[in-house]
Amino acid sequence: MDNKGFKRHRRLRRTESLRALVRETKLTKDDLIYPIFVVEGKGIRNEVSSMPGVFHISLDYLTEEMKELEAKGIRSVIVFGVPNEKDSQGSQAYCEHGIVQEAIRQIKRDVPSLTVIADTCLCQYTDHGHCGLVENGEVLNDPSLELLVKTAVSQAEAGADIIAPSNMMDGFVAAIRQGLDEAGYSQIPIMSYAVKYASAFYGPFRDAAHSSPQFGDRRAYQMDPANRLEALREAESDIEEGADFLIVKPALSYMDIMREVKDRFNAPLVAYNVSGEYSMIKAAAMNGWVNEQEIVMEKLTSMKRAGADLIITYFAKDAADWLNE
Ligand code: PBG
Ligand code: ZN
Repeated sequence: MDNKGFKRHRRLRRTESLRALVRETKLTKDDLIYPIFVVEGKGIRNEVSSMPGVFHISLDYLTEEMKELEAKGIRSVIVFGVPNEKDSQGSQAYCEHGIVQEAIRQIKRDVPSLTVIADTCLCQYTDHGHCGLVENGEVLNDPSLELLVKTAVSQAEAGADIIAPSNMMDGFVAAIRQGLDEAGYSQIPIMSYAVKYASAFYGPFRDAAHSSPQFGDRRAYQMDPANRLEALREAESDIEEGADFLIVKPALSYMDIMREVKDRFNAPLVAYNVSGEYSMIKAAAMNGWVNEQEIVMEKLTSMKRAGADLIITYFAKDAADWLNE
């Protein structure tokens, strides 16, 4: 008998089919949500310089792009609008014919099987670049809620399947839930950016979305990266207010938070694999320092292992290709 007083864990790792039998976590295409940046104008498909492989696209290229996603088996997109005009009230965010509203209408018309998630915030639309109304250098809470509700309702009117509020004002889920219900959209779920940290990993996104704050930073409304218990309070209040999904953002430095939120709250959990996380891997891969496919699949699988049910990721197209291989 081969009893040497230790366990032979390697028995289950010997062949790929054994490994597949005991694999605990599986990444599938259904888990992936692809972020897109839509811009005004025509004939635009410009690569974002800090995010190789990510493009600003105008509406005349949008349908083609969405059909490509559908063909790869990606079923959900989250839409970010980059308007030409900004003002202090972020009025393009809730304009009936704003860039996001038009993009949502077009996707639902041309590729109706795609689930369209609308990011609901003001920072791309305000001239000061903050996620709410500003007075005397401060981002106001309650007055910002009204504009967020208007934005969410206009996105639902345009045909959005899910509303994803990201601005971190207190009470945004309650306000948007009530606003959607009153406007007749009680069936539209809210995917709340419940746990969103004030993170340096958002840098490339702010290039892409032209949404950098023009003064100060977002630390008076986004969370302190040092805090764990506060994340649980945020998740708890969003669930009480009626959130249908919880997002933890960013993903990679916050896997502990993801696990804890998943264990404590019974709601689908979404990891946002943010822009800086994308660009770091891209840069290393472009230099030949890491194997992009292997590292991306490892990262995405790790997020699922940490408790994420879904992943918003700029790698969605590549990951779908690799899963299709
Ligand atoms: C703000 C918003 C941010 C991101 C999406 N919407 C963060 C921020 O600028 O504070 C970041 C996404 C990413 O980095 O990929 N509402
Ligand atoms: Zn914002």
